[in-house]
Amino acid sequence: MSDPSRPVLVTGAGGFIGGHLVRSLVAEGRAVRAADTKPFEEWFQHVDGVDERRLDLTRREACENAVDGVGDVYNLAADMGGMGFIENNRALCMLSVLINTHMLQAACDARVDRYFYASSACVYAADKQVSADVLPLVETDAYPAMPEDGYGWEKLFSERMCRHFAEDFGMVTRVARYHNVYGPNGTFEGGREKAPAAICRKVAEAALHGDDEIEIWGDGHQTRSFMYVDDCVRGTRMILDGASGTPVNLGSAEMVSINQLVDIVEDIAGVRLKRTHRLDAPQGVRGRSSDNTQIQETYGWEPSTTLRDGLERTYSWIVEELQARRVPA
Ligand code: NAD
Ligand code: GDD
Repeated sequence: MSDPSRPVLVTGAGGFIGGHLVRSLVAEGRAVRAADTKPFEEWFQHVDGVDERRLDLTRREACENAVDGVGDVYNLAADMGGMGFIENNRALCMLSVLINTHMLQAACDARVDRYFYASSACVYAADKQVSADVLPLVETDAYPAMPEDGYGWEKLFSERMCRHFAEDFGMVTRVARYHNVYGPNGTFEGGREKAPAAICRKVAEAALHGDDEIEIWGDGHQTRSFMYVDDCVRGTRMILDGASGTPVNLGSAEMVSINQLVDIVEDIAGVRLKRTHRLDAPQGVRGRSSDNTQIQETYGWEPSTTLRDGLERTYSWIVEELQARRVPA
């Protein structure tokens, strides 16, 4: 059982999903400790009353500091990004194993109540994702294993560690496999951004500068499903509180091609742009979507924010961020 009188720990709290998760927990009156290695001024969100700690969680002592006295743990810290980052930084992605190993050991020793791990759809086997009209991925598609090189192998190893800490040491561990998450207050430039934020930024910049052309990675026929961050936070909390320790998909079942994603953002912006397709850019798998049978059967719920609604909110936020920079100080 979780002890609501003890603070909740969120790691990676200076990042995108972690920032939204902290806000949601505080809104319900929970005491929250937030840990991230980034300087405080780079955190996407700060929420009043949160015990914020700047900690490099690859180090065991930092993990011990983070978990001291907490009840539930949401471990979201990772060195990651979209395809542009994970295809070119496989060693850095794999080094997140230090975070996940030390966090599990420290949390186990500190006898935390429940431990959540943010895994990824990148654990799924490559041969299940070779065509754009792919079948939605079911949880068993992770094995036989051939995940995304680097990042996906680390995620698969770390979710398996959660399983064995539960079996061997009696920890209560929970694992969700997130499918491409998007929304405001996340990375939209700099190389780690994922497709929804990248496309919103490119369209917004073109609209702001009066350009008529944008660059798209790949031929645009590759497919994905994208989950709005509010659904991600809701599902994450449901999974931590739930009874199942088996890894479960947390993603949208609304599959679109990247060209369709661009169409929607152009509609929102009220522009039509010429597309240049960069075929040598990082593309990842050809098709990916989430089969939500398991989450439906276990929790009676699945992510339901439409891509159009979520992109409207994301696009507005990115436009505000870009416009704020244009205003002279
Ligand atoms: P993010 O990059 O915005 O947040 C991750 C945070 O972890 C960053 O703020 C970073 O500074 C922090 N971090 C990195 N190394 C650290 C360290 N050594 N010590 C402490 N903090 C450290 O990413 P996000 O999109 O919020 O993702 C959160 C989690 O969800 C990650 O584990 C990620 O792998 C997983 N995930 C995300 C997506 C997605 O589409 N966003 C998809 C699948 C899985
Ligand atoms: N990032 C990005 N930027 N991708 C683009 C762009 C662009 O400007 N234009 C087109 N794309 C295409 C990519 O080539 C890829 O085929 C597709 O959009 C999706 O790219 P990303 O959003 O970067 O990543 P992903 O869906 O392949 O993987 C992401 O989701 C996983 C979970 O589902 C990554 O964030 C992984 O880290 C994550 O685990």
